[in-house]
Amino acid sequence: MYAHHPPRIVQFGDSSINGSNHSMARILGIESTCDETAAAIVADGRSVLSNVVASQAHLHAKYRGVVPEIASRAHIENILPVIREALQQANVNLAEIDAISVAHRPGLIGSLLIGVTSAKTLAWSTAKPLIGVDHVHAHLYSVMLGENSPTPTFPAVGLVVSGGHTALYEMKSLIDVHLVGSTIDDAAGEAYDKVSAILGLGYPGGPIIDKFAEKGDPDSIKFPRTLLGRDSLDFSFSGLKTAVLYHVRGVPQKGVGWALPTKPLTDPQLANISASFQAACIDVITTKLKRAAKRLRAKSILIGGGVSANRGLRIALKQFPLPVLFPPLQYCTDNAAMSAALAHLFYENQSFSPLSLDAIPQSQFTR
Ligand code: KG4
Ligand code: ZN
Repeated sequence: MYAHHPPRIVQFGDSSINGSNHSMARILGIESTCDETAAAIVADGRSVLSNVVASQAHLHAKYRGVVPEIASRAHIENILPVIREALQQANVNLAEIDAISVAHRPGLIGSLLIGVTSAKTLAWSTAKPLIGVDHVHAHLYSVMLGENSPTPTFPAVGLVVSGGHTALYEMKSLIDVHLVGSTIDDAAGEAYDKVSAILGLGYPGGPIIDKFAEKGDPDSIKFPRTLLGRDSLDFSFSGLKTAVLYHVRGVPQKGVGWALPTKPLTDPQLANISASFQAACIDVITTKLKRAAKRLRAKSILIGGGVSANRGLRIALKQFPLPVLFPPLQYCTDNAAMSAALAHLFYENQSFSPLSLDAIPQSQFTR
């Protein structure tokens, strides 16, 4: 089908790509790392011309978590309509796009493959440069999409808090990023989703718990704050999740099962449990941010990922002794605008990916 367009592997420093004005370059971003199929067009690395997200949450809701097989099938169905919609909303056609970017790691392999294959096919068939980015890096970069957001000062501490990741990064610049701590079990968003399931509430759980927490007393139940010692920058949320389970159902008795019967919780009970759980999460996150900021002599904090939409976390961090940059709410959860924006930095350096770009389950940032 594409026989007249031979594959073109674009190398770093290949200045023959096109003659367009770099600073106004329009980049098509593609995102399919987990359960959102997304495409966006971003001009000059900051102006979001379109940002289309097809959520699959309704498909996974009855399982109370992402089912990988269902996710990759839905990506196959959604990807082309979503890309078309992004082009249409931005009022540009493919020929007017300067580069194609894709989050090619980390994520569910079956999901990643759909986005990566689509991006590579588009890049090959249109002879546009391809730019693979790390999804976690894109979450950190999402703070740059704010219209009025202050410019980050470096060194900075980066924090990604989402359904799949909870990790701290040393950022010497927007590109020079090193992992300094990560969760040893559940991610914070995963704990929100599981606590929501324990309470008989919906999926994704983060926004629901956040809403209930608003009306509850954060000191009503003393849930544990797992800090993993005095120096650790790692996180652990599975004990907190289990503490909520035992609070609701009692500690299981050998040979008897749950100590307390399942019965619907009242709204005031849901509010108090949610507020107390959220307070424990926020305490842990704030403590770790303070530790990291001190150790890395940070001048600012950059936070991204689904949990960065949390109302309670945003309020709590207003008191933080350093400037804390959050993305606008629409760029907290998975989207393609953040990777298209990050890709602009690579575009400016003509740092492109070969068409052999792989889908990789792990992040590029490891210890
Ligand atoms: O970044 P994201 O869309 O996907 C991953 O890369 O994992 O994050 C999704 C996660 C879900 O676990 C969801 O419950 C959580 O972000 N989340 C929230 C809020 N909004 C979404 N958690 C706490 N408070 C919120 N307001
Ligand atoms: Zn994400």
